[in-house]
Amino acid sequence: MTEATIIDGNRFSVGLRERITTEVHALRESRRLTPGLAVVLVGEDPASQVYVRTKHKRTVEVGMESFVHTLPVDTPEHELLTLIAGLNSDPAVHGILVQLPLPRHIDTQKVIEAIDPAKDVDGFHPVNVGRLASGGEALVPCTPFGSLLLLKDQLGDLSGLDAVVVGRSNIVGKPMAQLLIRESCTVTVAHSRTRDLPDVVRRADIVVAAVGKPGMVRGDWLKPGCTVIDVGINRIANPDGTSRLVGDVAFDEAVKVAGAITPVPGGVGPMTIACLLRNTLVACARQHR
Ligand code: GUN
Repeated sequence: MTEATIIDGNRFSVGLRERITTEVHALRESRRLTPGLAVVLVGEDPASQVYVRTKHKRTVEVGMESFVHTLPVDTPEHELLTLIAGLNSDPAVHGILVQLPLPRHIDTQKVIEAIDPAKDVDGFHPVNVGRLASGGEALVPCTPFGSLLLLKDQLGDLSGLDAVVVGRSNIVGKPMAQLLIRESCTVTVAHSRTRDLPDVVRRADIVVAAVGKPGMVRGDWLKPGCTVIDVGINRIANPDGTSRLVGDVAFDEAVKVAGAITPVPGGVGPMTIACLLRNTLVACARQHR
């Protein structure tokens, strides 16, 4: 039996970042305009620190300005809101990203709603959520958008395909479902309370797994030849004390059944930052038209 095509998110994201670099240089030449991205990190969560460092590096690489604001874990909510208000009115800042999760004493939804929707490069503000759902000019959440780019590169037209999204988060599951509806897929959103989940997944031409449970989607849940997008990034311990990253899909099983599958790492992960840079470029262009 032939094994699935491995969808190379690293390679695709390199190409996307090259195209963004070209456009950033064109904006700088023709309009004297440099897109700027502000990233705010509250606290010292090690995974978040890695993400923020990587975002900074990639932002500078494509020729944009990067503004990183690191605040102590006990920063009062009103101080974070004051910082955001300043970034909203700063003409050098075209995109604002507040790294999640935030410490528990801070109201995440209040912070998201404080960001100017025109600068909301995460696409989490209710204005952007609403526009994605109702067909306006939205900034679209980065991880689902990156997943969609990989799907379209792999499959071409998605129209009429059965898609099952496992997970209903605001960051991935819900916006992924909206994007797939926009592509004329027949979309099912499954979650922890879904009955007969394996049978639901078995109907899908496209499976998007975004639940945060290592290896949860098994090989025998998949329709032969389907396309699997694994959004999970789970760190698990090895017997020898080291650790490794695994997705939400049992890769070694799934690769024998699926037609194409994203690996973890090297699948969706690198696409997220590339799409963040794309959103920053789009936000900058829209603020200056
Ligand atoms: N933490 C995990 N994923 C994300 C994301 O897409 N955006 C932000 N701001 N924080 C995150």
